[in-house]
Amino acid sequence: MQFNFIPNDIPLPIPTGGLEAVDVVLTVLLVVAWLVHILFINVLLGASTGSVYFNKRGARENNPVFDRVAYLLTTPVTVCENMGALWGVAPLLLVSVMFTPLFYAATIMNSPQWLHIIYGNIAAFLLSYLYKYTWHKLEHRKSLHLAIGTAAVALFLTLPLVFMATVQLYLTPTTWTGNTHFWDALFRADTFFRLVHFYLASFAVTGLFMMIYGTAKRKSDDEVTRQAGDVLVNTGKSWFLLPTLLNLFAGPLVLFQFPSYGIENFFNAGWFWLIILGVAAILGAAYLTVKDFFNPELSKGKLWSIVGLAFVTVLSMATLRHGMRLSLTSEAMAQAKTQSDEFVARSKTASDEAKTAPKAVAVATVSAGEAAAGKQGCLACHAVDQKLVGPAYKEVAKRGYTEQQIVDLIYTPKPSNWPDFAVPMPPQTQVPKAEAALIAQWISGLK
Ligand code: HEC
Repeated sequence: MQFNFIPNDIPLPIPTGGLEAVDVVLTVLLVVAWLVHILFINVLLGASTGSVYFNKRGARENNPVFDRVAYLLTTPVTVCENMGALWGVAPLLLVSVMFTPLFYAATIMNSPQWLHIIYGNIAAFLLSYLYKYTWHKLEHRKSLHLAIGTAAVALFLTLPLVFMATVQLYLTPTTWTGNTHFWDALFRADTFFRLVHFYLASFAVTGLFMMIYGTAKRKSDDEVTRQAGDVLVNTGKSWFLLPTLLNLFAGPLVLFQFPSYGIENFFNAGWFWLIILGVAAILGAAYLTVKDFFNPELSKGKLWSIVGLAFVTVLSMATLRHGMRLSLTSEAMAQAKTQSDEFVARSKTASDEAKTAPKAVAVATVSAGEAAAGKQGCLACHAVDQKLVGPAYKEVAKRGYTEQQIVDLIYTPKPSNWPDFAVPMPPQTQVPKAEAALIAQWISGLK
C-alpha cells in the first residue's frame, strides 16, 4: 500500500528514562484514559438529554416526580462535563505523540472546526451550569429554562461530529487528497455509522447509569426523590436495552466500512475475538435486563451482574478499538518512518556538504559590506557594474582610493570628481563609522 500524502515526521525520541516498555505503557494509558473519558462523555450526552426530556414532561404533565428526575440528572451532567474534559486531554496527547504524522495531518484538515471544540465546549459548559443553577428561579418561566437546557444539549451533541471526523480521517490516510476537509469526512458512510454507534452507546451507558443512580435514590428520605429513583431505574432499563440491540446492527456496519486492508489486518491479528467476547457479554446483560423488565424491584445482585457484564463489553470494545487503530495505521506509520529516515539522511548529507565546502557558501552569501550598502540606501543610486544615478562601484574602485578615502567621500562627497553626473551625491552622514568602513572595504575590493 502506498499513501500519497503522509507528511514527514521530525523524529523526537520520547524520553523514556531507561524504560524499555514505553510503547506498552503509552498504549495501556491510551486505552484506559480514553475509556474513562468516553464513559463520562456517554453519561454527559445521555443525562443532559434525559434531563431536558423529563423537565419538559414534568412541566407538561405537571408532575413533580418527573421534574425531580430531571433535576437529579443535572448532577451527573456537571460532574461528567468536568471529568470528561479532564480525562480527554490524556488520550488526545497520547494519540498525538504515538501517531503524530497521521493525527496532526487530520487535525489540520479539520482545523477551523477544531475551534468549535473550544468555543462550543465553553458555551455548552456555561449553559448547562446556568440550566442547573436557575432551576428554582426559572420555575415559572419553563420555556426559557427549557431553551437554555436544549441549547446546551444541542451543543454537546455537535462536539462528537468534529472528533469523529478527525478520527476517521487520521485512521484512513488512503482517503486523503490534497484538498480533504472536515465536511468531506463528515458526510462519509464510515463517519456516519461510527457516530450512530457512538450516540446509541451513549444512551445505553446512560441507561446503565440511571439504573445505578435510581437504585441509590430509592433509599432517600424524601418521597418524591424515592419515586424519582423508581422512574430512573425503569427508564434506565429501556434506555440500556433499545440502543444496545440497535448497536448489534450498527456495530458490524462500522466495522465493514473500514478499508479492506485494515479489516484484513484486524482479523489476521485475532482482534475479532474481542468482538465475540463483547457481544456475548452484552447479550448476557441484555438478557438479565429483559428478564426483569417488568419487575419494579431490581436486586443489587442483578444490577451489578448487568453492570459487570456490560463493563466486559465496554473494556473489550475499547481494546479492540485500539486493535483496529493499529490494523489501519501500521502500514502508513511504517511509510512515514521510511520517509522521515530518508528526509533526515538527506538533510544530514546537505549539512555535511555545506560544512566541508565553506568557500562555496561564502560566494553564495552577500558580504557584510554589500549588505550595509543595501541597508544604508546606497544601492538606490549605485550598482556594482552599472551606471545609475551615481557611478558603478567598479568604476569607483578603478580610481584606486584607499579605504579611508572612500569613507571620507561617503561623508563628504566631491561632485567635482564626477563631472558627468547631473545630481550631486548628498552627504551620507547617517551611516555609522563601522558600516562605512565595511562598505569602503567592499567597494575597494571590487574588480
Ligand atoms: C541620491 C543618490 C545617491 C545616494 C543615495 C548615494 N550616492 Fe554615492 N554618488 C552619487 C553620485 C551622483 C555620485 C557622483 C557625483 C558625486 O560624487 O556627487 C556618487 C559618488 C559616490 C562615490 C565616489 C566618490 C568620488 O568622489 O569618487 C562613492 C564612493 C559613493 N558615491 C558611495 C556612496 C555610498 C557608500 C552611499 C551610501 C551610504 C552612497 N554613495 C549613496 C549618488 C548617490
